[in-house]
Amino acid sequence: MEEVQLTELTGKMTLDEKIEQMTQVTAAFINKEYSEGAVTGPFAGMDIAKVDASGAGSVLGEAGAAKLNKLQKTYMDNHRLQIPLLFMADIIHGYKTIFPVPLAIGCSWDTEAAESSARIAAREAAASGLHVTFSPMVDLVRDPRWGRVMESTGEDRLLNSLFAEAFVRGYQGENLKETDTLAACVKHFAAYGAPEGGRDYNTVDVSERELYEHYLPAYQAAVDAGANLVMTAFNTIDGIPATSNQPLLRGKLREEMNFNGVVISDWGAVQEAIPHGVAENKREAAKKSALAGVDIEMMTPCYLNHLKELISTGELSEGLLDEAVLRILQLKNKLGLFEDPYRGGDEEKERITLLHDTHKKKARELAADSCVLLKNKNEVLPLKKSTRAVLIGPFASSKDLMGAWSIYGEEKDVVSLTEGMTSLSSSVVTTEGSGIHSTNEALLEEARNKAEKADVVVLALGEHSEMSGEAGSRSQITLPQAQIQLAETVASLGKPIITVLFNGRPLDLNQILNLSDAVLEAWFPGSEGGHAVSELLYGERNPAGRLTMSFPYNTGQIPVYYNHYSTGRPKKSGTLEDRFLSQYLDVPNEPMFPFGFGLSYTSFTYKNMTLSGHTFTEEEPMEVTVDITNSGSCRGREVVQLYTQDLTGEVVRPVNELKDFRLVMLDPGETETVHFLVDATMFAYYHSDLSWSWDPGTVRIRVGRNSEDTQEATVTLTKTSKG
Ligand code: GLC
Repeated sequence: MEEVQLTELTGKMTLDEKIEQMTQVTAAFINKEYSEGAVTGPFAGMDIAKVDASGAGSVLGEAGAAKLNKLQKTYMDNHRLQIPLLFMADIIHGYKTIFPVPLAIGCSWDTEAAESSARIAAREAAASGLHVTFSPMVDLVRDPRWGRVMESTGEDRLLNSLFAEAFVRGYQGENLKETDTLAACVKHFAAYGAPEGGRDYNTVDVSERELYEHYLPAYQAAVDAGANLVMTAFNTIDGIPATSNQPLLRGKLREEMNFNGVVISDWGAVQEAIPHGVAENKREAAKKSALAGVDIEMMTPCYLNHLKELISTGELSEGLLDEAVLRILQLKNKLGLFEDPYRGGDEEKERITLLHDTHKKKARELAADSCVLLKNKNEVLPLKKSTRAVLIGPFASSKDLMGAWSIYGEEKDVVSLTEGMTSLSSSVVTTEGSGIHSTNEALLEEARNKAEKADVVVLALGEHSEMSGEAGSRSQITLPQAQIQLAETVASLGKPIITVLFNGRPLDLNQILNLSDAVLEAWFPGSEGGHAVSELLYGERNPAGRLTMSFPYNTGQIPVYYNHYSTGRPKKSGTLEDRFLSQYLDVPNEPMFPFGFGLSYTSFTYKNMTLSGHTFTEEEPMEVTVDITNSGSCRGREVVQLYTQDLTGEVVRPVNELKDFRLVMLDPGETETVHFLVDATMFAYYHSDLSWSWDPGTVRIRVGRNSEDTQEATVTLTKTSKG
């Protein structure tokens, strides 16, 4: 349809029909035969059940070509103006082929691979009839107690921005008229990743400057990459729930960030203005969200029940609804739904596309590159295939490797670690050893007996996938005690222990680290997880992951993140005598494993860091080169990281900031000279008046293998007279 036709169509719609377009429900509310749709929020007693929502303009949580084509047909047969339904769902890290959770993908530092994973997810989901994915989630995170850190790519705004762009490009491709694409819905606007106490849905209270400096950039990156929808967050921003926050949605998002697409609420978030305490009733909740610019209300009936009356009293203008409806129709038009309401949904295409071998291969490669080797004492890894290994733990044969938000993935398609290891070696025996939370003397005894006969023990430990994800916050981030007891029991036998972790957050590893000779963080690696981890354990692949979220010493150290501020009493190499410093009495200030950290089976040396001068200007950037050599015995990939520090600012500046990185693959003995360009704009920041600019002054430039292990140089940034 042409734009003018969309405007004409809006003009033909009754007020009720407009309000229906602004409402989203699960399929059951459109057609009672559909009752298995994904329920991703409170459902029992939902008020939406008390109204007729069968004319709602979009559906969430349903998938499958046959189901969606049938639903579309019955809907269109009854729709006066033949406006097709929009089908949306949470395709967060794969549809049927499940990729590692986004926090793992972030640790690959491989934005091309991330884009490819989104491309594959879109291809599979579109074949199953879907039009929109509620992804990417780009919330910056600093608190591993929060269950949804697994859904983010970590604590750094630059990396989160690069991944946000990559995911949007992957989902949307070049043109949404292509039927193997999905419209991307970036979420959750804004700063949902900063809830107090790491407790989901809790208050977020960050300063305006922090919001601009750290939390908004990734949403901006997704918007700039063309994301067609933005989902509002459950939390408050500056005391106002995001979903009824006009300064946030009309001010920041639409005006400052130049977003012209569809704003959709999160599940029930319009009506949650009432429990938040900013709306007396659904009528007021509807008014606030409509005025704030929420185009689609997800799963509550405030719009359905009250917008019409708010128009009649003149409290809302019909023009405001027309704007919202036009944006919704424009999205449906971009997707080509008016020409073909059945778009990509095709059972034959679905059959040949889902879980295609090429998809599984990509998933396996990305899963391997997302794992982070945290410890490898005496190079106990990689294992020889002839090594008599016993695989012990609740995750030894578990297929719960997809992690949260893998709604359409099926465990039957998951490769377990046992399956992976036994496909590579005939010298592996397996036993469960313990449950995730429960000990069992018989299991423990069997584990002990099998470990006695083995050369090496591989412990497969972790969190159940429901111990993270939405509403999956934990006040303590240790492994369950039953698994620690299993590890201690096995460790008492004196065999080398390799611990593989399957989990959705940075954990407090104090109790497990010293018991293990090696620790491999596998996160939730997805459908091909067993193969990916096994290929790492046996050295068919070399671990390449680097942390994008710090691992704290313990829960008490949270929040701990690399780009913190100095404070007035920074702790240097201080000891307890230097009592009056910003420090703990019982743990260091630094995390147990820092941002950017990850080991390899080989080693890389950094030599000849060279700068093009001692000063640079906005017209003459600083060139930085460094020679990276693979000084080990096997091919490997290094993530060469460039950090800077602005030593003084008009406001405090982080002690370290990632500004660039290179993925460098090297054979043993091979050297590559890596080049970076450091320019003045890298030092721009939000000043106290929220202006964005850089200042001349002394800055540090660092190059290294992680945020704590770098070589540095101190130089001067000057402004040219014209500057
Ligand atoms: C959930 C989540 C959101 C998801 C939505 C639809 O509550 O917060 O991320 O996209 O509901 O499932």
